[in-house]
Amino acid sequence: MCGIVGYAGRGGAAGEIFECLKKLEYRGYDSAGISTADRGEIFTFKRSGRVQCLSEGIKSLPGSVGIGHTRWATHGAATDANAHPHVSGAFSVVHNGMIENYAELKSELAASGRKFLSQTDSEVIAHLLDYYYDGDLADAVRLTCARLKGCWAIAVLCTHFDGFAVACRGMPVILGRGDANYAASDVNALAGRARERCILGDGCMALVTPRGIQVLDGALAPVKPVFGALGAEEEGESGQDCAHYMLREIRCNARTMRRTCAAFLSSGGGAELYSRLASADMIVLVGCGTAYNAALAGARLLGGAYDCPVTARLAGEARCDPPRVTRRSVCIAVSQSGETADTIAAAGILRAAGAYVIAMTNVGYSAITRLADRVLPVCAGPEICVAATKSYIGQLACFHMLASPSCAALRSKCICAVADDVEKLAFDGEYALVIARLCVNSRAVFFLGRGADVEVAVEGSLKLKEVSYVFSDGLSAAELKHGTLALVDEGVLSVVLVTDAALADKCKNAVEQVLSRRGRVAVVTTLADVHAELCGRVDASWLLPAAPAHLAHFVAATALQLIAYRAALLAGHDPDKPRNLAKSVTVE
Ligand code: G6P
Repeated sequence: MCGIVGYAGRGGAAGEIFECLKKLEYRGYDSAGISTADRGEIFTFKRSGRVQCLSEGIKSLPGSVGIGHTRWATHGAATDANAHPHVSGAFSVVHNGMIENYAELKSELAASGRKFLSQTDSEVIAHLLDYYYDGDLADAVRLTCARLKGCWAIAVLCTHFDGFAVACRGMPVILGRGDANYAASDVNALAGRARERCILGDGCMALVTPRGIQVLDGALAPVKPVFGALGAEEEGESGQDCAHYMLREIRCNARTMRRTCAAFLSSGGGAELYSRLASADMIVLVGCGTAYNAALAGARLLGGAYDCPVTARLAGEARCDPPRVTRRSVCIAVSQSGETADTIAAAGILRAAGAYVIAMTNVGYSAITRLADRVLPVCAGPEICVAATKSYIGQLACFHMLASPSCAALRSKCICAVADDVEKLAFDGEYALVIARLCVNSRAVFFLGRGADVEVAVEGSLKLKEVSYVFSDGLSAAELKHGTLALVDEGVLSVVLVTDAALADKCKNAVEQVLSRRGRVAVVTTLADVHAELCGRVDASWLLPAAPAHLAHFVAATALQLIAYRAALLAGHDPDKPRNLAKSVTVE
């Protein structure tokens, strides 16, 4: 959830770390801080608020080695005192993850006279390091890590060491080599800086100095790190000069559709996957948030292609109440980041019970890929905006490929044709502003649809509430009359999706039900006749490019993403960093 960075080079560490932290801010932005070490002294500046709040204060931090942090608060409010780094004696520490036994460690350390300045679980790490240190940094890190329960990654600065140490268990740390040496929670932070990257092994530590990187296992035996070149994707995308990542990423939807289909077709493993799915006794899709919403669509697509039961489960629920799988069952774990704690736990439980686990993810080196039997890449490229957009579209494309055992190439061709319209829509979808204005002027917004539009409605609602903070829900238009209609009046907007001609009349019924209660209505449709019929009677009607019903979710979801983006701006919020949220939720 938090982002950690380490730098050991020849230049000013604080400025370098500041730049890296800006790229990690999607992992949390409650507070930020940097420590540098210079001539046997540690200098720290930290503040509640965004990374930008550090810009002035860090100018006075000397030294060419340091560590930094951007926080998503779990233990203790978003205050200056709770901001990382935490300092004790010769040590400064930044931490990502959770120390499950911190209360026990804290009372032990407090009993020995140590004073705590924060409410965080992280501060115990700094005190433990200082307690165990007897002149050997690696040993102090080893002894400290052995005391920590839970999943975590740490970066450590020590006044007696010209560099920093990193260690991890269950949380990612990427090491980077270039003109300087680096470590970070995510390879994005190293884009444009490191030339090569390596994933720090679970349970390992690395000692990083301006001269090199030494990796050690949990018993301090040397491990040879395997560095690879930073891929073009990881180096970041250029050429799309948008004010926000959210818009820039929506504009990558079409490219993601094309790339994801192409990667599936060229992987050569389709036949084996198809036969596994065809012989499965059950297919269970697990995910959280937007990934779960993609799984809802996936369940519909796979359910139409294979004979066995296919269900989408919220990963947080599936881990507590797992379905009864067998060795013939298949679990598809859907996760943009591949780091979501609930999704990893659910997939792990199902795998232990015998299921074959496929990880559908956007991040090739993520935790879920290490757990899975098979990885299915979603080729969205780095997604920075906290609200997922292009990764959702890529997950839909991936599910289409999985659901086309005898016609994947043809399906890919059709998806690429729709991608052309998605692209135009993403660049020219100005009508989104009209509906966004209605959204922000409403007490509540309900997204309604039938068939595959139900899943799009649910995701459209999540997008709107995430970035505009307008109360919203997504549901089947058939359900409206069974409860939600009680809330409809002139202050409530219903956004009605209509993309399947076979279900259009049923959607029109919902429009009538809302209008007769004086509710406001915005229609979002790919069907020209529906638009023509309704546009004079409702508050807004947006005619989207036509698309076959089974592929229309690409178009409709893009339109709803644009509405949410515009609504966030109208409401005066930063769409890239919604309050209280973070992109990778690595805690339970
Ligand atoms: C967080 C993000 C959501 C995301 C969910 C699942 O809650 O804010 O946007 O959909 O995690 O993330 P994943 O990386 O597993 O897809």
